[in-house]
Amino acid sequence: MSGIETHYSADDIETRVLAAIRAAGLDPGIRLSPTELAALDHFHTGGFRASLVLRDLAKVQATDRVLDIGAGLAGPARMLAATPGCQVECIDLSRDYCVAASLLNRLTGLEDRIAVKVGSALDIPYPADSFDVVWMQNVGMNINNKQRLYEEIRRVLKPGGRFAFQEMVAGDSAATCFPLPWATDPADNSLVTAAEMSAVLRRCGFEEAYFADVSEEPLPPPAEGTPEAVAQAPLSLSVYVDDLALKADNAARSLRERQIRLFRGVFRVN
Ligand SMILES: C[S@@+](CC[C@H](N)C(=O)[O-])C[C@H]1O[C@@H](n2cnc3c(N)ncnc32)[C@H](O)[C@@H]1O
Repeated sequence: MSGIETHYSADDIETRVLAAIRAAGLDPGIRLSPTELAALDHFHTGGFRASLVLRDLAKVQATDRVLDIGAGLAGPARMLAATPGCQVECIDLSRDYCVAASLLNRLTGLEDRIAVKVGSALDIPYPADSFDVVWMQNVGMNINNKQRLYEEIRRVLKPGGRFAFQEMVAGDSAATCFPLPWATDPADNSLVTAAEMSAVLRRCGFEEAYFADVSEEPLPPPAEGTPEAVAQAPLSLSVYVDDLALKADNAARSLRERQIRLFRGVFRVN
């Protein structure tokens, strides 16, 4: 397993997720809604709210076929499959996360609208011109070869398709606080500046529709309370993310010290 796959592994994830659902007072035998699971399955800055903002910015429609790259437990995919109701394909490097994503798709009754595959963003397992929207939240930070990544996204998008993403980019100085939520150590932290990212996207045939620094946006954490309280809530990323409070704290400090910035973007294939 690569360092990244180890970082995103979680033994017995199905058992852990089911126990957390019960501990939160929910019955996994009765159909769950994507919003009930939001504190568990949106593994990115700003959680569910940030996914809603990106959905509206990218104007995702019910008729769109969407690819979610690095989909994690597929919380954002279930949000899109529920409203506006599109068909979503998910790929992720982590076998454990794919197992949990499939479980949660079944528990929410959305398995007919969402497919989950183990796969790499650098070798996307779909033919050219397959998707109206490629969606990616807090994944590019793990991918060093941006050129290959954006060429692959460009390849699978239909003409006129949109690439909707949010991710951390490099700030004014190198990141020093580890572990971060996406990287145990600097070797897996592949950040470029916003200007570098935009230049590679243009080189790969994309045109900017929206690209903004949203680091100061007042998005709430996935649940109310201190980082420790959030990490200890039954439905939290800590069900499958080790040392969540420390990682979240390091990310907040890195943002405050401008070592990293949060960007959101929508680029079109021209
Ligand atoms: C911070 S999580 C975000 C998960 C999900 N996008 C979300 O917002 O809930 C990053 C995810 O990217 C996946 N990932 C990292 N590098 C990848 C790659 N090269 N190809 C596919 N998935 C990757 C990880 O396995 C992990 O699930």
